[in-house]
Amino acid sequence: MLPVNPLTEKYIIDHTSEEDPVLAELNRRTHLNTVHPQMLAGKTQGRFLEMISRMIVPENILEIGTFTGYSAICLAKGLKKNGHLYTIEINDELITFAAGFFKKSGMADRIIQLSGDARNIIPSLDIVFDLVFIDAEKSEYSEYYKLVFEKIRHGGWIIADNVLWGEKILEDSAQGDTSTRGILDFNDLVYKDNRVDNLILSIRDGVALIYKK
Ligand SMILES: C[S@@+](CC[C@H](N)C(=O)[O-])C[C@H]1O[C@@H](n2cnc3c(N)ncnc32)[C@H](O)[C@@H]1O
Repeated sequence: MLPVNPLTEKYIIDHTSEEDPVLAELNRRTHLNTVHPQMLAGKTQGRFLEMISRMIVPENILEIGTFTGYSAICLAKGLKKNGHLYTIEINDELITFAAGFFKKSGMADRIIQLSGDARNIIPSLDIVFDLVFIDAEKSEYSEYYKLVFEKIRHGGWIIADNVLWGEKILEDSAQGDTSTRGILDFNDLVYKDNRVDNLILSIRDGVALIYKK
């Protein structure tokens, strides 16, 4: 989390629409049942993803990194009628947990879970995506970007989470750690890629919006 004034942060949370009951339960159960609940998008970022998806009205969304399914449900809320969200998760212990909440959300038929390493699964997908959300292993962000790029339509979008990585990107001493290096390399790769326009927002841990020209 970036060091936003805690009172401002609280004000933002208090004045953002409440989670629906399914997301609230998923948030609670993720905190009770998982070791790293902070990986869940949560109320404000979830709303952000939902709003962006509602603006784009995508037919096909790809999410890399399902975890317990919170961001998948938020993104799926913006899908075009009959659209689908494909979400990839490497940890098969999370698949059933997330599936239960996809069912509760009423979107089980629109959310397709893919189990395995995104780096193996992405090349096998014969789908044109309107929106891709990258939120898995930080050291692998550049690989996901390169693998998925040709599968995104012109005028399509990538959203990448954690691109400020708790501000470790600013610390010389952190550049040797693989996650920080991965985020630094990814941000440079995108910035230098003239096939896209990009913007880094300081929402939560940093979110990149990338538009494929
Ligand atoms: C930060 S969490 C995702 C959080 C989720 N998007 C949300 O906001 O609720 C990252 C997830 O990516 C998964 N992951 C890590 N490396 C992966 C890979 N190579 N392929 C697919 N999933 C991966 C992890 O197991 C973890 O559940």
